[in-house]
Amino acid sequence: MSENTPQYVIAIDQGTTSSRAIVFDHDGNIVSVGQLEHEQIFPRAGWVEHDPEEIWTNVREVVGTALSKANLTRHDIAAVGITNQRETAVVWDKTTGKPVYNAIVWQDTRTQPIVNELAAEGGLDRFKDKTGLPLATYFSGTKIKWILDNVEGAREKAERGDLLFGNTDSWVIWNLTGGTNGGVHVTDVTNASRTLFMDLETLQWDDEILGIFGVPRSMMPEIKSSSEVYGTVAGSQLLRETPVAGILGDQQAATFGQAAFGKGAAKNTYGTGCFLIFNTGEEIVKSENGLITTVAYKLGDAAPVYALEGSIAVTGSLVQWLRDNLGMINSAPEIEQLAEKVEDNGGVYIVPAFSGLFAPYWRSDARGAIVGLTRFVNRNHIARAALEATAFQTREVLDAVNADSGVPLTELRVDGGMVANDALMQFQADILGVDVVRPEVIETTSLGAAYAAGLAVGYWNDTDELGRNWNEDKRWTPQMDQAEQDRQMRQWKKAVTKTFDWVDDDVK
Ligand SMILES: Nc1ncnc2c1ncn2[C@@H]1O[C@H](COP(=O)(O)OP(=O)(O)OP(=O)(O)O)[C@@H](O)[C@H]1O
Ligand SMILES: [Mg+2]
Repeated sequence: MSENTPQYVIAIDQGTTSSRAIVFDHDGNIVSVGQLEHEQIFPRAGWVEHDPEEIWTNVREVVGTALSKANLTRHDIAAVGITNQRETAVVWDKTTGKPVYNAIVWQDTRTQPIVNELAAEGGLDRFKDKTGLPLATYFSGTKIKWILDNVEGAREKAERGDLLFGNTDSWVIWNLTGGTNGGVHVTDVTNASRTLFMDLETLQWDDEILGIFGVPRSMMPEIKSSSEVYGTVAGSQLLRETPVAGILGDQQAATFGQAAFGKGAAKNTYGTGCFLIFNTGEEIVKSENGLITTVAYKLGDAAPVYALEGSIAVTGSLVQWLRDNLGMINSAPEIEQLAEKVEDNGGVYIVPAFSGLFAPYWRSDARGAIVGLTRFVNRNHIARAALEATAFQTREVLDAVNADSGVPLTELRVDGGMVANDALMQFQADILGVDVVRPEVIETTSLGAAYAAGLAVGYWNDTDELGRNWNEDKRWTPQMDQAEQDRQMRQWKKAVTKTFDWVDDDVK
């Protein structure tokens, strides 16, 4: 590259607990990071909200931090990529730029009555053929309907064409490119595939489903590929005139950042929740084992690449719950010290069905349980059981992937905040019976978004080049014997059944 060519790409990762901006160099190494957490708003049991304006303020601030830490200006940045918490629904007024309600977060279960109502005709799988998804509170669709049904004046405004919907990718890009002053209203195929409204084959909104939900098409963003120039940053901002050129939902971004481009490649990301994605190439595979079908990515005009996904709602957030709600630890990494004080879980299993159970069960009537308690059990066992819950849930999802694909995975690429935890990763390898492999860059979510944006502007040439940036950092090999593995899984599955059927119709 010549001297005048920008040397870096920046990714904005608008996550569930924080927003990050990360500058990457051409080798895919981290140059600088800005990060800010935002408030988790829990108005009632089962409700989870974010303030979209706080998120947008934080995004601008973390971009500034990342640039200034590395002494960079917009002239050093070739492109901006966006990745985001998926399914979280923001509805805003395009004439004022203000959200009409807080963002309803993917974990929120308030729309269960809407799910039941829609499932009364055709069952939970009525949209599965077209969208790849079961009807569940998880996806954006019922959240948008809830806002239109419950926020005063929202439906009228939406029907007048004044309201816009987006996952947080769309909200950030609309603001980044000018907001009320010419902001572009777009999303990419991966985010669109999490709404319950996109046809997986045509990659367009489905008017029939939109009609059934009563959501005006004018609210919906234009569906674009994951890698193309959508617009440029507005004149009033630090990155002005820089092309915004990549969008990937966070889990798809992590898949991309792990260079899991080929059919049969897979990764598992351990963050707030855990999400295992298995690349199925250009084929749309329908799961028979509780996985969902989603778009992995689409690069410009090239054919889309699809995936099977095992979504687990609660993993790292169980650690946060021990920290924030029980006060058992002061920081997430402290859990490792507690867990190491005991040899095993003392017979305790924690099934963190805080938002019901996602893959492979899809049981919205489940709620969390701690089982196997005896007078022997202490906080160290609880800490250990909390970590193990992540590994057991992942094993169940991996079993589903193996059953659907017919070809068992021989190793698992991992990333996300929890993979810093050695004890957890060893237990994960033990309980899976396959190697667990961590790359040097575990911020794969941001890296994937940077890659998508960089590809669109020619900063990188092709996915082969990206694949060469991937380097192994650490590998954990299974050490547990088969009988113990089987015993643990039997106990875990029994624990899971104890969470079923908890929510009755009159539960508040
Ligand atoms: N050493 C550790 N042991 C266990 N859990 C940890 C450890 N360090 C971090 N975590 C957990 O990892 C999660 C943070 O990981 P990460 O930053 O990848 O999350 P994330 O899912 O990207 O966040 P977001 O949802 O905001 O995108 C937190 O839930 C935290 O509790
Ligand atoms: Mg994340």
